Amino acid sequence: MDARRAALDEDFSLPGWIYRDADFLRAEKEQVFAASWQVVCHLNDIPNPGDYHTLDFLGEPIVAVRGRDAGVKAFFNVCRHRAARLVDGGSGHCPGRIVCPYHAWTYDLDGTLSAVPHRKEFVDFSLGNFGLKAVESEVYKGFVFVRLKPGLPSVADMLAPYQDELALYRLEELRPLGRVTMRLRHVNWKNVTDNYSDAMHIAVAHPGLSRLFGQTYGVEAELWVDKMWGHLRDTPSSQLSERMYQTVLPKSPHLPEDRQRLWTYFKLWPNVAFDIYPDQVDFMQMIPLSPTETLVREIAYAHPDERREMRAARYLNWRINRRVSLEDKALIERVQAGMGSRSYSPGPLGNSEVSLRSFARRMRELIPESRLECAPGAGWRTVGNPPGRHGG
Ligand code: FES
Ligand SMILES: [Fe+2]
Repeated sequence: MDARRAALDEDFSLPGWIYRDADFLRAEKEQVFAASWQVVCHLNDIPNPGDYHTLDFLGEPIVAVRGRDAGVKAFFNVCRHRAARLVDGGSGHCPGRIVCPYHAWTYDLDGTLSAVPHRKEFVDFSLGNFGLKAVESEVYKGFVFVRLKPGLPSVADMLAPYQDELALYRLEELRPLGRVTMRLRHVNWKNVTDNYSDAMHIAVAHPGLSRLFGQTYGVEAELWVDKMWGHLRDTPSSQLSERMYQTVLPKSPHLPEDRQRLWTYFKLWPNVAFDIYPDQVDFMQMIPLSPTETLVREIAYAHPDERREMRAARYLNWRINRRVSLEDKALIERVQAGMGSRSYSPGPLGNSEVSLRSFARRMRELIPESRLECAPGAGWRTVGNPPGRHGG
């Protein structure tokens, strides 16, 4: 690639076709997602032995289970006999062991196969060879992450630039505020994550956030993490929920003064985000279902606090952000529609758009076809580029 083209790449956003292309999503599954860390739940979502949370990610059913020893292990939620899904739903409880609903193979909470009906029928059979297949997991400040294959630094290493800041929020002590919600968006997953890390649109397209935080949001990009933040203004908002939030938000005893009225957003490469408010914390995860469909998986957590003002602040926060979320939905649908137009070629990125720049840079490194303005042609991934052998 010549120097001029490299410079163009640096200063331009990603091309529209990669927001719609099935082959590109297949490439992303291997090159972007397989080694990425995905959050399943918080330890306090599964406090007792046998409690579990599931994550269906890119066709892989995964379950994180609290064991008898109080540790948490993650497995593929797939029976070793005939592949039946073992546990159902987003979360639940297995009383002491996991029993397959198909032929009753029975696994201990640590994944060991412990009982098989009609065992004598299986020749040369050893229970020890058919334990559940483990998925690598890491617990970071209470959050349980999994990944399908190695290749990236640990979650702790990726978040190291912010570990002191995150430590202030005592994330280990969070309790779930509600249940996991799934919102379907008819857009490519990158469209949701781009928008999440886009500080420039806030003053234009989120009047509520502008009333609360003024015209400038901070934004910075570390190697694996983007951060945005805004300080709640004292000037009363003209909108009732916002004004009430400004008024009632009580002090959080665990936070220092300069964080009592600070909203911070972190996005971990490539698709996991944490919204960190003084009153609550949530994670959002953008899960691709198809090139143009994304599930936004989300759940809120908070420290135990029964003060009326805190309960009101949490409700008002939810109201404010529900509106923001609808505004963002409309924005990303607009963008998705435009990404399909033959007229669109990558637009320039401003100097302050550091998160979009860093995302585009990494995507171009991992999948060099993302440098091309147009799709290389149907079936390009299978025809010309076997995995790991992409041309530049
Ligand atoms: S598929 Fe699970 S016991 Fe047969
Ligand atoms: Fe937004």
